[in-house]
Amino acid sequence: MEKTLVLIKPDAFAKHYSGDILKRYEQEGFRVVAMKLLKMDERLASIHYAEHIGRPYYRDLVGFMTSAPLIAMVLEGDHAIARVREINGKTNPAEAAEGTIRRQFAASGSRNAVHASDSPESAKREISIFFNETEIFDEDYHVKD
Ligand code: CDP
Ligand code: MG
Repeated sequence: MEKTLVLIKPDAFAKHYSGDILKRYEQEGFRVVAMKLLKMDERLASIHYAEHIGRPYYRDLVGFMTSAPLIAMVLEGDHAIARVREINGKTNPAEAAEGTIRRQFAASGSRNAVHASDSPESAKREISIFFNETEIFDEDYHVKD
């Protein structure tokens, strides 16, 4: 079992695509083990996107990501890190395969609906940026009849 950090970015959240996107992950068998609605600030954006600081698109990326609320969640499942990135599709929706979330819901390579961690190291780092241990429900549980 792996965990990965997923963001439903401000574009997709504002367009009311969150339900369809979440449904997709659940139908693929992933379990939501953490979730919150939040607005990123500059500091949080610079931590999450640290490797992009200085790139030509960085200021626009931060402006976009801090402009409106987004959903952060942790998904758990077999090979979650690679599989969620496959389901999301390539960064640019024009290059994303048919049936991927970005192909369906992204408007461009910058307003591209979703984020997902790209490696076990990134997943660990990114999950800890958004959630503390008490907010992650990854134990087995049984709903009372
Ligand atoms: O999100 P992903 O891992 O697919 O792509 P990335 O290369 O790690 O870039 C992170 C994010 O920066 C992208 O999802 C875009 O929102 C944004 N970006 C952009 O606006 N313009 C680019 N040329 C590259 C990335
Ligand atoms: Mg990335």
